[in-house]
Amino acid sequence: MNPSTTLAWARLAEHADSQQGIHLRELFAADPARAERFSTKACGILLDYSKNRINDDTLRHLIALADECDLRTHMFAMFEGCSINTTEHRAVLHTALRAQGNVPVLVDGQDVLPGIRAVRAQTYAFAERVRSGEWKGFSGETITDVVNIGIGGSDLGPLMVCEALKPYASGPRLHFVSNVDSLHLTQALADLDPARTLFIIASKTFTTVETLTNARSARAWLVKAAGSEAAVAKHFVAVSTNAAKVAEFGIDTTNMFGFWDWVGGRYSLWSAIGLSIILSIGAKGFDELLAGAADMDQHFRTAPLAENLPVLLALLGIWYVDFLGCSSHAVIPYNQTLHRLPAFLQQLDMESNGKRVRADGEAVSYATGPVIWGEPGTNGQHAFFQLIHQGTAVIPVDFILALSQPGQLPEHRVSQIANCLAQSAALMQGKAGDEVRAEMSAKGIPEEEIAALIPHRTFPGNRPSNTLLLDDLSPRSLGALLALYEQKVFVQGSIWGLNSFDQWGVELGKQLASGIEQRLTGTGGPGYDASTEALLGYIGGK
Ligand code: F6P
Repeated sequence: MNPSTTLAWARLAEHADSQQGIHLRELFAADPARAERFSTKACGILLDYSKNRINDDTLRHLIALADECDLRTHMFAMFEGCSINTTEHRAVLHTALRAQGNVPVLVDGQDVLPGIRAVRAQTYAFAERVRSGEWKGFSGETITDVVNIGIGGSDLGPLMVCEALKPYASGPRLHFVSNVDSLHLTQALADLDPARTLFIIASKTFTTVETLTNARSARAWLVKAAGSEAAVAKHFVAVSTNAAKVAEFGIDTTNMFGFWDWVGGRYSLWSAIGLSIILSIGAKGFDELLAGAADMDQHFRTAPLAENLPVLLALLGIWYVDFLGCSSHAVIPYNQTLHRLPAFLQQLDMESNGKRVRADGEAVSYATGPVIWGEPGTNGQHAFFQLIHQGTAVIPVDFILALSQPGQLPEHRVSQIANCLAQSAALMQGKAGDEVRAEMSAKGIPEEEIAALIPHRTFPGNRPSNTLLLDDLSPRSLGALLALYEQKVFVQGSIWGLNSFDQWGVELGKQLASGIEQRLTGTGGPGYDASTEALLGYIGGK
């Protein structure tokens, strides 16, 4: 449906006008209980959303919007395995991958849980053989290094989780190769011993050019060292939905771990695509990751909308995108091991909701998915925070901080926490001209210089943020955090009326690249626009 035709949408538009000029500082001053009222906790995650440009009416209208857009019906349809990915005629059931009980989840009348659990048992058994040293390479050596070759959802999720949970790693060393630029592969392999290296070729379709190009070069590297194609069986496994293509590549399908078309690539880390995670942290750790995500799914399904973490994050996002004109959203994790979280969220959010046409085929008349970006704090503070504080664009921020992690040094922790809290406070309150003046006068700076510097040293403030505090950064809490963002994206897509589970926008570039490859190799290919032809001409001469 078109959300902009709802009563709530009209009310939100009016409300946005009426709120112009109200500063967050005033809202905090007027209501000492604001932080308490606009905070909620679930699944080990505290969400403080009080530093947003909202009041009770804003929330009321946003929740009315969710109701008018039938959010509950959409949620039910997803969890129940309805074919909500309408352009591909598929159910969307990454939630079934982490379901904890035995309540059947039906797709075309068939319970998918037994199949999910059978493949998981297979991945656990395989990972245990590698981790224990029972699995041997071509010369009888144990495996010390695992290289996951995949891209997009077959790379970003596993890579991000393996990095985030490094303090829990107890298996072989993990490496991730995604870029078709050969240096990604050759640099990863530079210090590896082929006799002790295992490759996971992770690709849902097993047709992705980058992944297959890297996989072929990796196989050549191994076969050269082993002196025989037979070594492939001991050093290559595949994770895919496409057994025929896996076999065609030369990987024995007994060394293949399957999944299903109802698992979207960017939602697939919970499936066998998480094999690298299982190899790194073991089956118990992976079970915890799944359990954390299941906790959040349960919260999402049952909590009232006004206390529902994914719903709140989603509605706040819609408020900024559609009513306050913010087209980008920063995610700043303060734990270094979450350094790939922004990249993961970029695919999750932008590939899901970067759409200009609704599921009903109509073009939208309102803004949809914002640009998602970020880097770990504190590094971002010394790079791009200038623009968030004093630039012309208002960029809502999610500050994410896990309060404890194995191996943390207490003296660093204090500074880590202080920086995170200071940034959201600074963005909210800003610094007025008279405060700048008082500070400079106290230092004895001459009036003329003060006057010249005040505009530069003033911070407007009123810049919104959420703070998400995790009690710890464990497999369980990470699972909950990731499911929180997955469901946030789902809620936004549901309200915007989008199909969040296809990605036709990546196809045109793939098609054109294939023709350009033909041109570059002199094997045909069509003509292109003048710019592309000129670039081809320039490159051809090199
Ligand atoms: O091209 C985009 C995409 O299809 C993503 O959605 C997906 O995660 C990625 O490519 C990798 O696809 P595959 O796992 O099939 O190699």
